[in-house]
Order: sequence, then C-alpha cells, then structure tokens
Amino acid sequence: MADRRLAKPKNGLNGELHVPGDKSISHRAVMFGSIAEGKTTIHNFLMGEDCLSTISCFRKLGVDISLMEDEVIINGKGWSGLIEPKEILDVGNSGTTTRLIMGILAGRPFHSVLIGDESIARRPMKRVTDPLKLFGTHIDGRNGGDFTPLTIRGGSLKGIQYELPIASAQVKSAIVLAGLQAEGRTEIIEPQKTRNHTEKMIVEFGGSVEREEKTIKVLGGQSLKGTEVFVPGDISSAAFFMVAAAIVPGSNVILKNVGLNETRIGIIEVLEKMGATIEVLEHSKQGEPIGDIHIVTSELKGIEIAGDLIPSLIDEIPVIALLATQAIGTTTIKNAEELKVKETNRIDAIVAELKKLGASIRATDDGMIIEGKTSLNGGNVHSWGDHRIGMTLAIASLITKTDVYLENAEAINISYPQFFKDLEQLLISK
Ligand code: S3P
Repeated sequence: MADRRLAKPKNGLNGELHVPGDKSISHRAVMFGSIAEGKTTIHNFLMGEDCLSTISCFRKLGVDISLMEDEVIINGKGWSGLIEPKEILDVGNSGTTTRLIMGILAGRPFHSVLIGDESIARRPMKRVTDPLKLFGTHIDGRNGGDFTPLTIRGGSLKGIQYELPIASAQVKSAIVLAGLQAEGRTEIIEPQKTRNHTEKMIVEFGGSVEREEKTIKVLGGQSLKGTEVFVPGDISSAAFFMVAAAIVPGSNVILKNVGLNETRIGIIEVLEKMGATIEVLEHSKQGEPIGDIHIVTSELKGIEIAGDLIPSLIDEIPVIALLATQAIGTTTIKNAEELKVKETNRIDAIVAELKKLGASIRATDDGMIIEGKTSLNGGNVHSWGDHRIGMTLAIASLITKTDVYLENAEAINISYPQFFKDLEQLLISK
C-alpha cells in the first residue's frame, strides 16, 4: 500500500466537530442487545472495523442485527437466543470483542472457537481464561489458554470472588458477564478504577450491579431487557483533536457531545495540568455523561503522569507523548506497562516513530520520558498496524517542518474511519 502524504495546516485547526461514537460503549451495546430480550436500538454507533467484528460474531451466534447509517437494531432473544456457531468467530483486531465475548460464551452450553488477526494472536488472554475457568467453564487456547485460537465449551457456572491482578476493564467486564449467568454472587476487586461502561450498561438494560470502593458485586441469574442506547462521542478519538488544537498555532476547536465518563477523562486532566486553555461544558450527567470540549492553542509545560490516572487515559498515551514533545521541560509517564500488550507494544512503537521525526523521547520499563519543546521534522513513519499510533503520527505531521509520509494509514479504520475527513474539516473551517 502506498504511503499517505499528510496534510499541512495553513491557519491551524478551527471549528466544531462531532467525533464518532465511543468504541467501548458501541461494543458493549451490541453485546448487551444480543443477550437481552426484545428490541435494542443503538444510536451513533461507531461503524469502525472493531465494532463491526463484534456485530459479525453475534450474527454468527444467531442474533438478528441490522445496520442503518449510524444506527444498529438488535432483536434479542435473551441469553438462550445465542446458538452454537457453525463458523469460527473472527474477532479481527479487537481485544475488547475477544475478552468480553469470552465472558458471555463461558455460560452458554455449546462449543465455539475464537480467532483474530496477527496482533490478536500475540495479545495475552490468560488474564481472562484463568478467572473464567474458576467459574467452571471449559476454555483453552494456545500456550495453556493464553493466545488465540481459543476454544470454549460453556456451561453452568458458579459465582466467584476474584482479585484482579491488573487494572483492566476488559478483564473485569468478562468476569461480570460470566457472573450475570452464574449461580450466586460474583465479587471482583479492582486494583485501580477502570472504565465502568459495562456496569452502567447493566443498569440501562434493567439489571443490577453494586460497587463499594474497589469491589464490584453482581448476582447471577439476571435477565436483561432491550433498550435504546445513545452512544456518546469517543473521548479517545476526540483526544487527537484536543492535542492537535493545543499544539498547532492558530487553533480554536469545539468537540461536541463527547463522552465524559469519570473513568475516561484523564486526558482532560493532563491538558489542564500542562497548562492548556481548555473548557468543558457538560450537558447531561445521566447514564453516560456528555459534553462539549473547547480548546485553543496553548503554551504547555512538562508533567508527571502516573498511578491511578493511567487507566483513565491508557489509550491516549501515544498522543500524550506527542503533546509532551511540545511542552517545555520533562514529561514522565510511569506505571503504564499495559501499553506493551495493546494492538502493538505502544511504548516501543511511539518512541521509535516520534524519534524518527526528531523528538527527544526514550522508553522506560513502564512508560517513557519526553523532553520538550522540540521542533519536529518530516520523514517516513509507520503505524505499526495500530490505529492510535497512525492517528498520533497524522497529528504530528501538522507541526513538522517538512512532509510526513505514513505507511499503513488504513489501520486508522479500526476506530475512526472518517478521521482524515474530520481532520480536513477542521483544517479548512476558518
Ligand atoms: C477497553 C479497555 C482498555 C482499553 C481498550 C478498550 C474496553 O483495555 O485499552 O482500548 O473497552 O474495556 P484494558 O481493559 O485491557 O486495559
């Protein structure tokens, strides 16, 4: 595939933008609609490749799902509406699909096989297969249940108590989904708070789940009812334009109807701490909170990003690394070793690619250290097949002295198929 030559701004980024629907919430809405009874309508669904993989898997499990522009309609028949798939379930590049669907299949009395692309084949799954085995399900995979292809023969489950060894919403959600089908109560203790979209969605679908500090409790035997889901704009997609507006001279951008769930807004905290001029106007606090984010070109300073903040901005770290190249002083990112097991090793990927553009950045065991402010050069860079690395490099190209050529820009279709169109809109708005 030819390299993509990236656009250069004349007057900064300007205007208003609605970013596409949240990826995490879109996946979950399809899953909950599929296990609930009755009709579910999902508005502002993210039609990215990952979420389409989730739809394809549930169709293979016998669920009636139809798509219309950015709407999805599911005619759910409850847990028992899922049937033994005749075909292998292909999760594509999607870790969320793989891990959450395992929690559902764990309690279904049939056999299924999960497979994905070469990135998925490298991602650790034992973190999910181990706790699911404790429920009494039969699940296996390459290397003792750690890698795809995975096979599951579900059945009757018994609730468990489980202390998560890592802060992972995907693992937590898989256990919660199994817990909904198990006999008795399931309790999960999180080391740090992670995104809580699964818990919120259980309530939206008429179920119940409790939270006390770091413990989540869910009762088995719950049946859910189809509903209407409004997916907010994805803050992880908005993050690319927040950073772009902060670092490209002459920018003034409003991102409309972005999801502001408290477990996802670490990027806003980072921008504020770095000294960015950013305003958040929340419209609604019910269910998933939503609001507009206004951000303009800013003078930035380096900061430390670590601890409990990390899970709330884990997917934004590649673009935060770029932001830090434009901040005066040192930015240190710690406790982010989970980045090594994302779509790529995101520490290695972002350090290597930003270095090619002249950034002063180095990898550490659990993050990276960036010195700023540096002026970046053009050159040839690679997405590593990772959507967020690709988008970060596309934003970097807006401030480089010469052109940037991005190899494998198609990876961006995983979470943001209209990314270049939206970027173009902000570049020509003034
Ligand atoms: C996600 C959780 C995060 C995140 C991923 C989506 C989710 O992964 O990185 O992009 O939808 O639950 P972990 O839960 O593995 O940290």
